[in-house]
Amino acid sequence: MDLPYAEPYKIKVIEQIKRSTKEQRLKWIKEANYNLFNLASDNVFIDLLTDSGTGSMSDKQWAEIMIGDESYAGSRSFKKLKDTVKRITGFTYFLPVHQGRAAENVLFSTLVKEGDIVPGNSHFDTTKGHIEFRKATAIDCTIDEAFDTSIIHPFKGNVDINKLQNVFDKYPTEKIPFVILTITCNSSGGQPVSIENVKEVSKICKKYNTLLIFDSARFAENAYFIKKREKGYKNKTIKEIAKELFSYGDGMTMSAKKDGLVNMGGFIALNSEEIFKQATVYTIMFEGFITYGGMNGRDMGALAQGLDEATEFDYLESRVEQVAYLGQKLVEYGVPVQQPIGGHAIFLDANKFVPTIPREEYRAQALAIEIYVVGGIRGVEIGTVLADRDPVTRENRYPDLELVRLAIPRRTYTHNHMEYIAAVLEKIYDTRKEAKSGYIIVDEAPIMRHFTAKFKKI
Ligand code: F0G
Repeated sequence: MDLPYAEPYKIKVIEQIKRSTKEQRLKWIKEANYNLFNLASDNVFIDLLTDSGTGSMSDKQWAEIMIGDESYAGSRSFKKLKDTVKRITGFTYFLPVHQGRAAENVLFSTLVKEGDIVPGNSHFDTTKGHIEFRKATAIDCTIDEAFDTSIIHPFKGNVDINKLQNVFDKYPTEKIPFVILTITCNSSGGQPVSIENVKEVSKICKKYNTLLIFDSARFAENAYFIKKREKGYKNKTIKEIAKELFSYGDGMTMSAKKDGLVNMGGFIALNSEEIFKQATVYTIMFEGFITYGGMNGRDMGALAQGLDEATEFDYLESRVEQVAYLGQKLVEYGVPVQQPIGGHAIFLDANKFVPTIPREEYRAQALAIEIYVVGGIRGVEIGTVLADRDPVTRENRYPDLELVRLAIPRRTYTHNHMEYIAAVLEKIYDTRKEAKSGYIIVDEAPIMRHFTAKFKKI
């Protein structure tokens, strides 16, 4: 019998988290106007709002914090990070930035013009935002299987090659500056993209002389799934797989708050010297000088160390399998979740979980609130509230999927926390038919309403 996986680390420092009563939580969520973003983190027991910047650093990363070089130009920590990025991704040109969306801001300022088309696989919100802000259009070419939570497909983050080809058939090539591939695809549930699919996308990009850029926030988790699921990769290391994947593209943006295992940071890496040169101008304008770009020297050192740790199999196995363990428990209880389970989060299907709550009453938001009230667990709505209103008609946009995301921070919660989360969800699932009504919005911002909207219980 194979032995089970276990975390390849032990705990050295702990942070106290507080349990609370249901009565307290009812009061706090009401005071927060039923918006989970408004809760004080002290009033949350298990925080699954995001896996971004919420993980734990290792002792070696903390050591980097002490030896960081804070020189304005040419710092040692910059060199350490640049060399690590080159070794892991293969890309030669490197620009640090303060987080993922800053990488998008700098790179898209260089590449995206008004009227452009940027195809990809379910672009992340900020990615889409940075495209649309420049009066360009993001076209989602993700395979249809991604939008049915019960279909089992090993690579639900894949691009539908026909959909992508149609984009190239319809628009002139000079209007398509690049294709962006998100690995893993956060918006479809932390679902991976296969090497085979990357190669096909790369072939089309080469044919039309268009760049292929990776949104690489969770590239190591993507490489883990390739190793586990794709033919021919079982005996390759995570570092070999990641480097091969990147070799089919021209560059990457990175939110290092995920697979960089740091709390803040990001970067751009590229093959083209010309694009790099243009991008340096925007880095200096928006982020800082090109050898720190919005990051402290110590943080660049910690990130270099984090990238090495995040691309080790034993770490990734314990990380991805912890998420899968929780997901499997929920599947056993019959709780509807996006399947197979993704790399960083569980996505609950609220349309199937609480169909008794009218869609107009924000059923996914209602479910997220219930999870907080019953268990002190904070997730996030990815449904009608997030989808916002149509900019022209101002009507609510109802997406195909109403989801609640429970994102698991890296190296942070234990097996018992997973048991606790599963028990809370089982309890809510058992009484789901009692849920009849949801919420109305009483106050909202004109865009990005989900962060600040105020709700009232019906
Ligand atoms: N790309 C992807 C795929 C992301 O998931 C994120 C952030 C970004 C880009 C932007 O990076 O936050 O460093 O500016 N995702 C976070 C989340 C916010 O909760 O999923 P950032």
